Amino acid sequence: MEPKLKPLEVVAISVLLALWRLPNQANAEPQVPCYFIFGDSLSDNGNNNHLKTLAKVNYPPYGIDFPQGPTGRFSNGRNMQDFIVERLGFEDYVPPFAKLRGKNVSNGVNYASGSAGILDETGKILGVRIPLNRQIKNHKTIISTIMRLLRNHLATNLLLSQCIYSVQIGSNDYLNNYFTPEFYNTSQRYTPAEFATMLVQQLSRQLKTLYDNGARKFAVYGIGGIGCTPYIISAIGPDDSGCVDKFNEGATLFNDRLKPLVNQLNKNLTGAKFTYLNPSGNPAGLVINGTCCEMGGGGGELCLPNSTPCGKPRRYVFWDGVHPAEAWNKIVAESAYSSKSPAEASPYNIQQLAKE
Ligand SMILES: *[C@@H]1O[C@H](CO)[C@@H](O)[C@H](O)[C@H]1NC(C)=O
Ligand SMILES: *[C@@H]1O[C@H](CO)[C@@H](O)[C@H](O)[C@H]1NC(C)=O
Ligand SMILES: *[C@@H]1O[C@H](CO)[C@@H](O)[C@H](O)[C@H]1NC(C)=O
Ligand SMILES: *[C@@H]1O[C@H](CO)[C@@H](O)[C@H](O)[C@H]1NC(C)=O
Repeated sequence: MEPKLKPLEVVAISVLLALWRLPNQANAEPQVPCYFIFGDSLSDNGNNNHLKTLAKVNYPPYGIDFPQGPTGRFSNGRNMQDFIVERLGFEDYVPPFAKLRGKNVSNGVNYASGSAGILDETGKILGVRIPLNRQIKNHKTIISTIMRLLRNHLATNLLLSQCIYSVQIGSNDYLNNYFTPEFYNTSQRYTPAEFATMLVQQLSRQLKTLYDNGARKFAVYGIGGIGCTPYIISAIGPDDSGCVDKFNEGATLFNDRLKPLVNQLNKNLTGAKFTYLNPSGNPAGLVINGTCCEMGGGGGELCLPNSTPCGKPRRYVFWDGVHPAEAWNKIVAESAYSSKSPAEASPYNIQQLAKE
């Protein structure tokens, strides 16, 4: 029979273990040396702040639950990528490309830009944004900087091959392009299925460009339930499902093509590890049918500047009309990081991708 520890002894031992581990953890290496982020407002952490656009959020009440206040994150607190970066063991969040001064770019850069899309013209009605093609160009300039830092081609290529490249984009190609026929003609030129095929073909070329620039570990995200966001429901009116079905059908057509693309790229590109993520979570206990802040900023979907938000952001899925609150970001980040469900992470979750 094993000797049983008394509760107090257990507490004492856990405290000792925690104290012993703390200094080590602070110095611990992250699971990958670097993390590069491409995407839209779901990942943007300040790149739009100085652009002429309605799609920026460097004002209260954004950031009320973030230590530095409003940073340009489209949330009350951390976004999903912040949580993943924490889980990977980085000491700091990944700095935005727009303000790199003095930062060590070798640990990663965030290129994401609110309202940006796979297509260059996506989001143009809201103003200036950094489309995925431009984000990839910005990444090439960072590679030159890393090359200068390391002064060695082999070392640079080795580093780049070990980083994780997060690519979460496509929502705006629907919200701020295909389903905004007042301003864009894509819905006249393409059926929803054709549009999804065209988007995924374009994304495929963009991912291959990153591969050609040394990327090997890719975390590629599907599009979430854009038809269930409070702004879209209030602007268009819900179907029987409670959501706007055609938006979700668009997202599904996109995801149905993205998943097999990831499998093909894994077969075709030597040494590459792509994974498809469509993290989900259980909103039980959270408010899903309303926003924590008062809508009316940006193009109508963002928080009204300086408005007073709800008292308990922690209880909300949606912070503003289209962006999740920190509580939900944490849930989906955990799913992307560690889910064993192939519907949410296939063939790898982020934790596995880091080890591959
Ligand atoms: C930047 O980070 C890289 C990789 O983590 C490291 O090798 C290098 O010494 C760092 N450079 C500076 C200037 O901090
Ligand atoms: C659609 O709009 C683009 C500009 O966004 C324009 O170049 C093109 O000619 C238009 N096509 C049609 C069929 O209207
Ligand atoms: C992968 O290779 C196959 C066979 O050459 C080709 O048919 C397919 O288009 C390629 N897919 C991608 C995404 O490159
Ligand atoms: C949201 O749903 C809850 C529970 O179903 C309901 O009590 C509440 O009135 C709804 N709020 C809105 C704004 O529709």
